[in-house]
Amino acid sequence: MLKTHPVKIAPSLLSADFLHLNDEIQAVTQGGADWLHMDIMDGHYVPNITFGPGIVQAVRRSTSLHIDVHLMIAPAQPYIKCFAQSGASSLTIHPDSDIHTHRLLSEIRENGMKAGIALNPQTPLCVLDHLLPYLDLILIMTVNPGFGGQSFIPEMLPKIRAVRKLIDESGFPILLEVDGGINASTAREVISAGADVLVAGAAIFGNRDEGGYKTAIAALKNQILTSPLEEGDIL
Ligand code: DX5
Ligand code: ZN
Repeated sequence: MLKTHPVKIAPSLLSADFLHLNDEIQAVTQGGADWLHMDIMDGHYVPNITFGPGIVQAVRRSTSLHIDVHLMIAPAQPYIKCFAQSGASSLTIHPDSDIHTHRLLSEIRENGMKAGIALNPQTPLCVLDHLLPYLDLILIMTVNPGFGGQSFIPEMLPKIRAVRKLIDESGFPILLEVDGGINASTAREVISAGADVLVAGAAIFGNRDEGGYKTAIAALKNQILTSPLEEGDIL
């Protein structure tokens, strides 16, 4: 039997050519991207600095796709409104960036965005207790946050399966997103484990040749057709 529920592919602009961001966005859109993923890093929560709401706003002018903003900044709360104004569609925070995670998630929705929570490799699933009704997205980090092009941590697969089960049993329409080290072979594993959205940076933007993005995105999406069904999978 084949898995038939579609996964979304979210190219991570962290690995795009910043000098030609508009061209990069158009190219991945033509190549079949479903969402665009933007990693906001502050050099404090993670040891890297990327871009802020001004660049999200510029990306919004370039696309009508869902812009999936992943905040790796501490604190995140003072910036919720400006990311909403910049055109972010979803805003994902880490539970250890601020003291009041519940309040933060509510504030994200009040500002018209989908609310997400991101769990680092060491973050236990109990942080999700009591928060499921306030979540639209759960992002499982399969690398330590901070950089593109790192290797997938295989110990995260049982964690993805556990979150899939938690979401299904809850009945809430929460999407399960996986971020870090996704390529054609790890895509197959995480789709089998129940992922709905795959973030991929290096595996897509590492293929700049003509037609390369389309082939790379297809290689991730085609895993849908070849992944075996597992017990508990939703069709
Ligand atoms: C890492 C970021 C990821 C990163 C993924 O902190 O959250 O979104 O861009 O890049 P790859 O797919 O290259 O591991
Ligand atoms: Zn990310």
